[in-house]
Amino acid sequence: MFQLETPQLVLRELTEEDAPLMLAVLNDADFLRNVGDRGVRTVDDARRYIVDGPMAMYRQYGFGMYRVELKDGTAIGLCGLVKRDGLDDVDIGFAFLPDFRGQGYALEAAEAVMQYAREQVALKRVVAITLPDNTPSVRLLEKIGLQPEGRITLPNDDDELLLMGWSATPTKN
Ligand SMILES: CC(C)(COP(=O)(O)OP(=O)(O)OC[C@H]1O[C@@H](n2cnc3c(N)ncnc32)[C@H](O)[C@@H]1OP(=O)(O)O)[C@@H](O)C(=O)NCCC(=O)NCCS
Repeated sequence: MFQLETPQLVLRELTEEDAPLMLAVLNDADFLRNVGDRGVRTVDDARRYIVDGPMAMYRQYGFGMYRVELKDGTAIGLCGLVKRDGLDDVDIGFAFLPDFRGQGYALEAAEAVMQYAREQVALKRVVAITLPDNTPSVRLLEKIGLQPEGRITLPNDDDELLLMGWSATPTKN
């Protein structure tokens, strides 16, 4: 089964057993503020969300959002690649539980996902969308090589988001 390993972390495909992790991440105050309300309120909701979202995406695209865990198996967050409506390019996303922020784990996971995107999926471009004032997210995206490209609004979302991107060959401006 697919897995990515870094010095401190293991990234694996989400399964229905990750419903408690998904429930915790999606209802974290910072996630609700920065990313949005997915309306997932129970373990059953979270199980359905995993089946219809990440697990469907693995089948359709071969990649998706992954569970991030410490080497002892403790689940600490999510990081991976997403193909979503309203964006032509694949985007990288991440969300960590509050206890595991500010320690470099998100950076380590995101670097591994970028390397996977470039070398295994052979993507020539990876983007990300974030609220412009989500400083931890913007800083992390800059560290993994994405640069601000402009503002964007997604379908069914009122927020104006910052689009950041990485391209294998520099885009002409
Ligand atoms: C966005 C998010 C994933 C960023 O995670 P994070 O914990 O801030 O990122 P890191 O783990 O890389 O830690 C960042 C800070 O820890 C510091 N740090 C501490 N110990 C470290 C170590 N051992 N190694 C590397 N960095 C370390 C870094 O220097 C960095 O600080 P800086 O930004 O001032 O340089 C996290 O804030 C989050 O989950 N937010 C809620 C969901 C969300 O907003 N997702 C993004 C939607 S676009």
